[in-house]
Amino acid sequence: MTELRTLKVALLGCGNVGAQVARILLDDADMLASRSGARLELVGIAVRNTDTPRDVELPRELFTTDAGALVKDADLVIELMGGIEPARSLILAAMRNGACVVTGNKALVAKDGPTLHEEADKAGVQLSYEAAVAGAIPILRPIRDSLSGDRITRVLGIVNGTTNFILDQMDSTGAQFADALAEAQRLGYAEADPTADVEGHDAASKAAILASLSFHTRFSLDDVYCEGISSVTAADIAAAKDAGFVIKLLAIAEKLTAAGGETGTETDAAGTTGVSVRVHPTLLPREHPLAAVRGAFNAVFIEAENAGELMFYGQGAGGKPTASAVMGDLVSAARSIVLGGPGRAETTTGKVSALPITAAATSYYIGLDVADQPGVLAKIARLFADHGVSIEIMRQTTHRDADSNIESAELRIVTHRASEAALAATVEAAKGLDVINSVTSVLRVEGV
Ligand code: HSE
Repeated sequence: MTELRTLKVALLGCGNVGAQVARILLDDADMLASRSGARLELVGIAVRNTDTPRDVELPRELFTTDAGALVKDADLVIELMGGIEPARSLILAAMRNGACVVTGNKALVAKDGPTLHEEADKAGVQLSYEAAVAGAIPILRPIRDSLSGDRITRVLGIVNGTTNFILDQMDSTGAQFADALAEAQRLGYAEADPTADVEGHDAASKAAILASLSFHTRFSLDDVYCEGISSVTAADIAAAKDAGFVIKLLAIAEKLTAAGGETGTETDAAGTTGVSVRVHPTLLPREHPLAAVRGAFNAVFIEAENAGELMFYGQGAGGKPTASAVMGDLVSAARSIVLGGPGRAETTTGKVSALPITAAATSYYIGLDVADQPGVLAKIARLFADHGVSIEIMRQTTHRDADSNIESAELRIVTHRASEAALAATVEAAKGLDVINSVTSVLRVEGV
């Protein structure tokens, strides 16, 4: 049998995912060699503190605190430290030294992807980050490679397991947000400081990456409109449920006309098409495939011109699942070294612009507390019509206040798809209408 060459692998970071990656490299060395055509030798693991206990028993001599020295002598560098620095400098140094880099660092890729890609192109090395979006789910490679001969028109993703768990708890138990969050923290899904998850920042980084690959244009975190789930109430969930919807935090990237209507097929010379990239709580019909994604699972739903609808589902976090995505990138990078050449790079020929949220086209769900008297519905219908927003569904429930004996009604309206600007203006005007006591909820709707 021919002797395989050995490639040196440096691992930066040894948390949940890093420890599993190290375990797989050590335990499955023969399998990885046969898959990649080279022996992958783990030469060191850079950590902040070599004495920290790890989830997996690993040889002590592999640990070092000198990440800079470790990356200088590696063919393949796996960055799982997270954060912007020193991860960014170490990745750039590794690539300048000719190493291929695998990272799970969504925040870094979303913030500074162009710099990383530029360096990878210059150095002729592979930069890959499948683990950065939706954990174990193979989603970036299918978008980049399998769908490279098609045109993606829209991506809807449940890409944050913590918020999906919280919203699912609220939906299935009627819990308020704070209680569902406490449960997520108790079970280890949510961090002690849950801001990055619940305010949508984690999903926004993933949205920027999904949009970049789907539309062959580099989008950054600054291009993503972001709303989290902390203001979603048990009443919103109950009303949505009653109307046949479920609330999900979606990362959305879709091609639109700037006028906010139809899905475009190609950038036009006048720049009238662009991509809306956004994260916000969204009502989905309960029969939509994404509505079936429960607990902390992730899923990405793609619409493409020729492929039609596709859905990718799986575990979006956790040591072993995320390590699976890292290992796929690592084997692919090793093969690119063995076979020569940098492997498949991303294309950035799309050159579509990111649209502001006001240009997005959505449907809205609007809950209104109104006076129950003649002419109210007519006034409300007129207000929507005056703003060019068409009503798709209107449902009314009435109730009488026991103390005051005043009768009021709750109206639940789902609009047809219209520009975000028109919908926002309608809601603003509704707040000033005399027959409306209050606007109880405003949520965007997809999949209708
Ligand atoms: N915190 C993320 C989630 C996992 O809850 O899905 C890592 O991106």
